[in-house]
Amino acid sequence: MIRPNSRASSYDDLAAEYYDPVRHPTCANFSELSDVFLVPRIEGYEPAGTAAILEVGVGRSTVAPVLQRRGLSLERLTLLDQSPGMLEHASKWGPVGARLLVKNACQTELPRGSFGLIVSALGDPYNCPAFWQEVARLLEPGGLCLFTTPAWEWASRFRAPHEQSYAAFEIAGGNTVLVPSKILPLDQQARMVADAGLLIVDAVGLTPECLSGTCSPKLLVTPETMRLPIVRGFTAQRP
Ligand SMILES: C[S@@+](CC[C@H](N)C(=O)[O-])C[C@H]1O[C@@H](n2cnc3c(N)ncnc32)[C@H](O)[C@@H]1O
Repeated sequence: MIRPNSRASSYDDLAAEYYDPVRHPTCANFSELSDVFLVPRIEGYEPAGTAAILEVGVGRSTVAPVLQRRGLSLERLTLLDQSPGMLEHASKWGPVGARLLVKNACQTELPRGSFGLIVSALGDPYNCPAFWQEVARLLEPGGLCLFTTPAWEWASRFRAPHEQSYAAFEIAGGNTVLVPSKILPLDQQARMVADAGLLIVDAVGLTPECLSGTCSPKLLVTPETMRLPIVRGFTAQRP
């Protein structure tokens, strides 16, 4: 069932306001929790040999600012998004060396085994077997994928049963746009990653206690749910 005044849509319809924390405080909370998982791991990543880094579903990019802070070259960084509007948020990284691509994360057409690190921040829109098989194809042996997603523990409380496969955003003008969002229970998520031939070597649940500021009402935080994850982060490795 589709809500009144809503339509199946794409991230292009959201791109102009996605990062506005006043209009979309839930996204801002998810982003902060996702960073709690990703940033220290990207800071600690030591690129070996000629291994390149790919960030998919990139939006404004989590990886590029970390590499810049570390004084590392962005020449080996590819930033990919299916939405030209969302990729526009990363455009400032092009002139300093990153490669920007409008492509589908599930079918990138990039060379097999060409990345040492793949990062996906809040990758629920394309969290499906085809994506994980593409990650396994793109990683070199021993390569890592850092992936975050809103947690099933939150989604199953917040979304009605018939709304589990999409995220609804109320945008300026009063319309609601619906975008794909595949958030799975932990065991199903782990099975999908394993079925692609990857090993989960690290899995962390990020709770509202990790947030520094205001908590969006849509997180539905109560004393009972305070200790449940809102975002989950995984590190998957190609053996
Ligand atoms: C929830 S947003 C997260 C954006 C960014 N990673 C962040 O954390 O701020 C999901 C992003 O994935 C992109 N996306 C959705 N489906 C995609 C696909 N099949 N392939 C590549 N990118 C996709 C959207 O355009 C959007 O930029």
